[in-house]
Amino acid sequence: MNTLAKLRLHDLAPPQDDFLGAVLDGLGRPHKSLPCKFFYDEAGSALFDAICDTPEYYPTRTEIDILAAAAGEIADLAGRGGALVEYGSGSSRKTRLLLDALAPTVYMPIDISREHMLSACHTLAADYPALHLMAVCADYTRPLRLPTVARGGQRRLAFFPGSSIGNFAPLEALRFLKNVAQHLAADDGLLIGVDLKKDPAILNAAYNDAAGVTAAFNRNLLTRCNRELGADFDLDAFTHKAFYNQAAGRIEMHLESTREQAVHVGGRRFTFARGETIHTENSYKYQPDEFRHLATQAGFEPLRTWTDAQHLFGVLYLRRR
Ligand code: AVI
Repeated sequence: MNTLAKLRLHDLAPPQDDFLGAVLDGLGRPHKSLPCKFFYDEAGSALFDAICDTPEYYPTRTEIDILAAAAGEIADLAGRGGALVEYGSGSSRKTRLLLDALAPTVYMPIDISREHMLSACHTLAADYPALHLMAVCADYTRPLRLPTVARGGQRRLAFFPGSSIGNFAPLEALRFLKNVAQHLAADDGLLIGVDLKKDPAILNAAYNDAAGVTAAFNRNLLTRCNRELGADFDLDAFTHKAFYNQAAGRIEMHLESTREQAVHVGGRRFTFARGETIHTENSYKYQPDEFRHLATQAGFEPLRTWTDAQHLFGVLYLRRR
């Protein structure tokens, strides 16, 4: 069978991110910061995959185990044979677990990276010949209209794994959940992975792996600035710093200047005091109740929460009211 016949691209032509503008803006602030979305160039995406394999970074393997154990129940709740809509692109084992359990007729990934998504879709199309793939190239952090696919009375399951929701501030997370609710009809579901609050020692270890992969991931942002923007960051003069901020309920990642120095980017000069940091990422952690409350505010009814034996990670099934 020609698998390509079952793959369609719906291109919403999302505007390219303005990396230089974001760097100039972030470094010009009283508390310097850079948006974490810029971590994911080719090298950064490979480093993130390597983070997921470190012994300290438990979320990925824990979520996979939860999904594998709950797949049958998820299919009972979501219904089989409908459409699976994934926020992000699905080459991962998590997507395949759901495709196997739900046997949807349509799989609709939404991703800003067209090439990455299409390559993942080609592999899936070969392995799931009966599946219709509708790849949507869009920035899912902004409101968007999904293509209408005939539902034929079938339900939609939205899927947002990996605790990517944790990289949004709570108000942005609420806005995102409301956007997802707009893509669903009453009784459709959202299956979402959420990293849970826990002993800070476990969290601190997960973002400070002994092999230094997370440190390399963080510093790759500066490599990117040097290569793509002609910046002159001295990579040896910034160290990785990650810690759990208990009051804010989040892991914070920073790059800390080890000495007084100046850096040039795009014709501008930015000075750093010794110990001054660039805040590069927040990763919010939730109590299950806190997250269910947020989901309720966004128009969902939490029907089921699965966790692992140590309560490290949660997978929630939320029904669109
Ligand atoms: C993608 N995101 C959910 C990861 C997280 O845990 O916040 C990114 C990451 N940053 C450092 N390690 C992993």
